[in-house]
Amino acid sequence: MFHLFKRGQTGAKPEDIVELAPDNIPEHIAIIMDGNGRWARKRGLPRIAGHHAGMKAVKRATIAADEIGVKVLTLYAFSTENWKRPREEVDFLMKLPQEFLALELQELIDKNVQVRMTGWKEGLPGHTLEAVETAIERTKRNTGLILNFALNYGSRHEIVNAVREIAEDVRSGKLREEDICESLISGRLLTQSLPDPDLIIRTSGEIRISNFLLWQMAYSELWFTDIYWPEFTESHLVQAVGEYQRRARRYGGL
Ligand code: IPE
Ligand code: IPE
Ligand code: MG
Repeated sequence: MFHLFKRGQTGAKPEDIVELAPDNIPEHIAIIMDGNGRWARKRGLPRIAGHHAGMKAVKRATIAADEIGVKVLTLYAFSTENWKRPREEVDFLMKLPQEFLALELQELIDKNVQVRMTGWKEGLPGHTLEAVETAIERTKRNTGLILNFALNYGSRHEIVNAVREIAEDVRSGKLREEDICESLISGRLLTQSLPDPDLIIRTSGEIRISNFLLWQMAYSELWFTDIYWPEFTESHLVQAVGEYQRRARRYGGL
């Protein structure tokens, strides 16, 4: 067992200490980072101020995940449905990867983190894509935590694409219908190189999935919290993993 203390606290009280079993750390945690707009509104600020503050929470979540030994951290940053938002908000969101990576890329490199992206590159502005691709390129030989941004990602679209691809392969004779199985489908998704998420976290009090990793989360544990994403700290991640460790994952068995 090892202990993790709440950050910024000297002499943490016993109730602040969460004990995590090192042999049962979720390999892949995926987070629906929600509530930036409401966080800002509550403070009388424009919604974009919430998105900006959310970047610090991204950093905290990354550090905590790395420290406790998570292998993959997927962060839902922009969905295929988020294009419906006002132009100015979308433009602001599309500038965040550049801003985040300008500040943090060196530290990510130093910490041996591998940056990845899950989503459609088509449709992203050139400056956004360039920032992400530079980070992916510069961290591709790293061997530590995979920090995977779900950017312009939508699960139904992902499944439709996979089905089309498989149908085409059957039509052309590359695949037989009887070859279609669960692992073949998993291998046609954008997450093909990643394990399924063990733990899904959603902030902001919404209890829904919003088109995130529908196939992949068949047996994920879900953890919801009312706090808004900009308020998310290392200790929330530790709390979620603590709860995860108390769950019995049965996969339909006994
Ligand atoms: C999450 O915060 C960030 C994105 C979806 C890009 P929101 O912008 O959804 O904030 P709320 O849910 O409106 O408060
Ligand atoms: C989900 O949040 C998408 C991201 C966190 C990127 P939304 O705020 O878009 O989800 P809904 O609209 O509340 O379902
Ligand atoms: Mg939202």
